[in-house]
Amino acid sequence: MTAPSVESIKSLRSPLAQTVEIHDTISSTQERAKTLARDGESPVPHGTLVLAGIQTGGRGRLGRQWGSPEGGLWMSIVLRMELEASHAPRITQAAAVGVAKALWEIGVEARIKWPNDLLVDGKKICGILAESSAGQKIPSSGGIPREPDPTILGIGLNANLNPEDLKVTAREVTTIRSELGHDIDPMEILRRILNNLDTELSRLEDFAAILQDWRALNCTLGERVRVQRSGESLEGRATDLTPEGALILETTKGVVEIFEGEIERIHQSQSS
Ligand code: BTN
Repeated sequence: MTAPSVESIKSLRSPLAQTVEIHDTISSTQERAKTLARDGESPVPHGTLVLAGIQTGGRGRLGRQWGSPEGGLWMSIVLRMELEASHAPRITQAAAVGVAKALWEIGVEARIKWPNDLLVDGKKICGILAESSAGQKIPSSGGIPREPDPTILGIGLNANLNPEDLKVTAREVTTIRSELGHDIDPMEILRRILNNLDTELSRLEDFAAILQDWRALNCTLGERVRVQRSGESLEGRATDLTPEGALILETTKGVVEIFEGEIERIHQSQSS
C-alpha cells in the first residue's frame, strides 16, 4: 500500500491534480478547497486537489455531517471550467459516472442513486458534493480577464475501513474493504478516480452520452420514490432523466421534474 504523497500524486500527471495539498487531519477538505479557490490574493487554479487522512468536520449534502475517520478517501478538487452557467449542474452527474466507473474497475459494483450517491446493494459507499460559487459573469472582452468561477467537487469514499467505523446510524453503509474482503492501494483508487473524472468532465458538452452511462449505472429509474420538495412530500415512480439530468417522477397528480433534493426508495409494503 502506498500512502499518497504530493510527489506521487503529481507524478500521475492528472489535469485534476496539478496542485496538491495533503493533510493528516483537517476539518473539511471542502472548506479548505473553497478557501483556496476564493482567496482574494492568489486563488488557486483548476485542478487543485486537497486530500485528508481524517476530517473532523466533514460535510455532506443538505448540511449533514460526514463521518471521516482514518482509512477513507476524503478529497475535494477545485474545478474552473468554461461552462454555460446552466450547464454547471452537469458536473454532479458526470462525477457520479466517473467515480462509479473507477469502482467497477476495481471490482466494486456501485450503482448511482439520483443524483449522485453511489451504493452497493442499497448501501452507501461514496458521497459526492459539487458546490458552485454563484456566478459573477466572466467578461467576454474588455475588463481584466480572469479564471472561471470555481466549482468545488468533494468526494467521500469509504475505502479501507469497516462500516461500523463510520458510526452512521441513519442508513446502511458499506466500504471497499467490506465489499472486496481486502484493502485497496489508495494510490490505485485515486489514480482511477482522477482518470475517469477527467474523461467525464472533458465531455460535459456531450451530456447525452454521460446520461446514457448514468442510466446504465443507476439504481433509481423504475423505482417508487419519495422526495421532499419545498416542504411537501411527493411520491411517484422515477421514470427517466430530462436532457439536463433532472429526475422525472410520475405521480398521481401528473409528471413532475425534480432538480435537487434527496430521494428515498419506497419499499412495496410502504406505498400508499
Ligand atoms: C453526501 O452527502 O453524500 C456528500 C458527501 C461528501 C463528503 C466529502 S468528503 C470530502 C469532502 N469534504 C467534505 O467535508 N465533504 C466532502
